[in-house]
Amino acid sequence: MLSIFCVKGTCKLRILLPKLNFVLLCFFLLAQDCERPIRDTMSLTGEHIQKEHFPNGLVVTFECAMGYRSTGGSGKTTCAAGTWTPSTLRCEKFNCGSLELVNGHVEYSEGTSFGSLATFSCNDGLVINQVLFICIPICYHTFSPYLVFSVVKCDSPPSVDKAEGPSPKRDFYDFESVVRYNCQKDYTINGSASLKCKSNGEFTPNPPTCLMVRCKAPFIPNGSQKSGARPPYIHRSLVEYECKPGFKMEGEGVMTCQLDSTWSSTPECKGKGLEPPMTYVYMF
Ligand SMILES: *[C@@H]1O[C@H](CO)[C@@H](O)[C@H](O)[C@H]1NC(C)=O
Ligand SMILES: *[C@@H]1O[C@H](CO)[C@@H](O)[C@H](O)[C@H]1NC(C)=O
Repeated sequence: MLSIFCVKGTCKLRILLPKLNFVLLCFFLLAQDCERPIRDTMSLTGEHIQKEHFPNGLVVTFECAMGYRSTGGSGKTTCAAGTWTPSTLRCEKFNCGSLELVNGHVEYSEGTSFGSLATFSCNDGLVINQVLFICIPICYHTFSPYLVFSVVKCDSPPSVDKAEGPSPKRDFYDFESVVRYNCQKDYTINGSASLKCKSNGEFTPNPPTCLMVRCKAPFIPNGSQKSGARPPYIHRSLVEYECKPGFKMEGEGVMTCQLDSTWSSTPECKGKGLEPPMTYVYMF
């Protein structure tokens, strides 16, 4: 049994059975005796499993090794004058078959045979909490996965200075739940008022901030206000300035008060103004 914990994204799980390791011992062979027969995909059965020394005429039987299964033939082989007669047993790699995954999918980039890798991924909003992976290779049954899912939970996003919220107030929020913030009176929101719990377990976007927005009265030398708001100038207050006679405006005369408490433009009145009227001095 194998258990896997997977918090975000995908998790990997190797379908691997223990391979039998043979320890080869060196010893003197008696004339006509056989060495231990070795086949990659097979192992010896019965009382011969541990033996290193096989007398002439002995019949031993192979079976398919762990991770392999028979596709027919006989595993019998005889020690005949120092060599083993060929056996007809055919073994192929055991195939685990496919795994079933509710609310997700499994990818088999290396196939489903013995030793291959299965990658689990969950549908959006779900994470694999635990994988119980039971394999009974002796009987060549398929692997039986038992997967426990849990729905993503988001921690509560932080409270925001000068704001009410997040509302509703909870310790944990379900996937896709929405919270809202409301700035207190006289404060302007910078950012999004509502946040959503996403599949990574975090609210998106980041919480907003609440700003006190106040623009100073514009000072435009040789200009005057033509129309628009009166102080206090709050966010989006709009004023229009014009230049006194004889001056020409450079820049945009219509200005709005921005989030950072500055005006959207700073026009200037350029020029010399009107010529002063000619004065005559009469002498009496
Ligand atoms: C508004 O929020 C953005 C993003 O957090 C930030 O970069 C920006 O400086 C904020 N504006 C003000 C005026 O605080
Ligand atoms: C234009 O404004 C400047 C700065 O306030 C001032 O010194 C100057 O006298 C003004 N010119 C006229 C013609 O009003």
